[in-house]
Amino acid sequence: MNVLIACEESQEVCKAFRKLGHEAFSCDTQECSGGHPEWHIHDDVLKHLDDGWDLMIAHPPCTYITKAGTRWLYAGHKLNQERYKQGLQAKKFFLKLLNADIPMIAVENPIPHKVFDMPEETQIIQPYYFGHKVQKTTYLWLKNLPKLQSTNSIMKEITPEFMRDNKGIKHSKWFMDCGFNSKLKSKTFEGIAKAMAEQWGRV
Ligand SMILES: C[S@@+](CC[C@H](N)C(=O)[O-])C[C@H]1O[C@@H](n2cnc3c(N)ncnc32)[C@H](O)[C@@H]1O
Repeated sequence: MNVLIACEESQEVCKAFRKLGHEAFSCDTQECSGGHPEWHIHDDVLKHLDDGWDLMIAHPPCTYITKAGTRWLYAGHKLNQERYKQGLQAKKFFLKLLNADIPMIAVENPIPHKVFDMPEETQIIQPYYFGHKVQKTTYLWLKNLPKLQSTNSIMKEITPEFMRDNKGIKHSKWFMDCGFNSKLKSKTFEGIAKAMAEQWGRV
């Protein structure tokens, strides 16, 4: 299968598909950090959507559309117009990926803010469905793909992991451990990448 992993620099999903014998490529405007530049397209992914893919899994930037960014979007209880404009641009990019002419598509993102009126998600997943002791609510929008099935649910281990920062916002231990490293925070979890390759590589 020819597989495009859009907006991926870590190559986590790309490598999971390669392991199963697929012609998978990651594509990102950043250089890859996954150790396989020969499987990486270092470019704007919009230039590569028509390159003959069977399946695309996309992880578009979420900074300006995510619900977690509300405090910036409504700083001082007023809509921040600049931030809102950036959110609309991010939505446009997201929709170009979701509506690409590729037979099977999965787009992944955190919970978007309601103000952006994003399409309804197909399913909600958590890293703890796939063996990672982390809560990070993640939406999937799927086209011609079955819902991703949990492979190793460790839900019961999650609850005591929470702590609070000094502004009273709830963060998981994993989130605090990542600190200001946004690259680390946005990296796809290995268990999720493996499940995608094993389940969607067979469709
Ligand atoms: C939320 S992060 C996803 C990271 C991914 N989960 C991973 O494990 O590498 C979004 C990524 O989109 C990339 N990006 C932004 N605009 C892009 C574009 N036009 N074409 C390709 N990649 C883009 C960013 O460089 C960033 O790596």
